[in-house]
Amino acid sequence: MTRTRVLYVVICGAGPAKRIADCIKLAHAAGWEAHCIATPSAIEYFLDVPALESLTGHQVRSTYRAPGDESFPPADAVAVAPATYNTINKWAAGITDTYALNMLAELTGLGVPIAVLPFVNTALAANRVFERSITELREAGIQVLFGEGGFTPHPPRTGETILDRYPWPLALEALAQDQP
Ligand SMILES: Cc1cc2nc3c(=O)[nH]c(=O)nc-3n(C[C@H](O)[C@H](O)[C@H](O)COP(=O)(O)O)c2cc1C
Repeated sequence: MTRTRVLYVVICGAGPAKRIADCIKLAHAAGWEAHCIATPSAIEYFLDVPALESLTGHQVRSTYRAPGDESFPPADAVAVAPATYNTINKWAAGITDTYALNMLAELTGLGVPIAVLPFVNTALAANRVFERSITELREAGIQVLFGEGGFTPHPPRTGETILDRYPWPLALEALAQDQP
């Protein structure tokens, strides 16, 4: 009997996080069992955690496990969406000061397929460090869906107007290609 494939969805603190249900529904339709890991900023500003737990049927994790917590099954793939400037740069620099970043470091080291869908404006994207971080992650084998064929940055203060166009399916399509 084949096991249901497990997708970790890592959610950072940017506008599309408010619509993470769209991503989870697409993942379910594609046959994934989705488990969410959120940054503290995503939890504080963007997510309806009870609604997300009800939709996935699993805890949303943002901190290390406490006794009695449900444990996640191992991931077959990981989608980081929306991925912030902050988390992308810290991940590429090896910083693990959130549970999400620690998980990403471990999953990168394990070689689990990971797709990253950023949500950054043109001002953030213009920083040289961001370009270096994307190069670093790509060289580590991560699929960073940015630029041509991926997420294109928007002008500052227009993020709320383009939430409808955030391309969730790209992350799932990228991971589908990675599956046996
Ligand atoms: C309303 C609001 C909107 C934000 N939008 C973005 C965004 O689109 N992209 C981004 O990289 N950061 C955005 N930020 C900033 C991040 O939330 C901030 O850098 C935070 O520290 C990210 O933490 P995380 O990477 O751990 O989620 C936004 C913050 C707020 C409060």
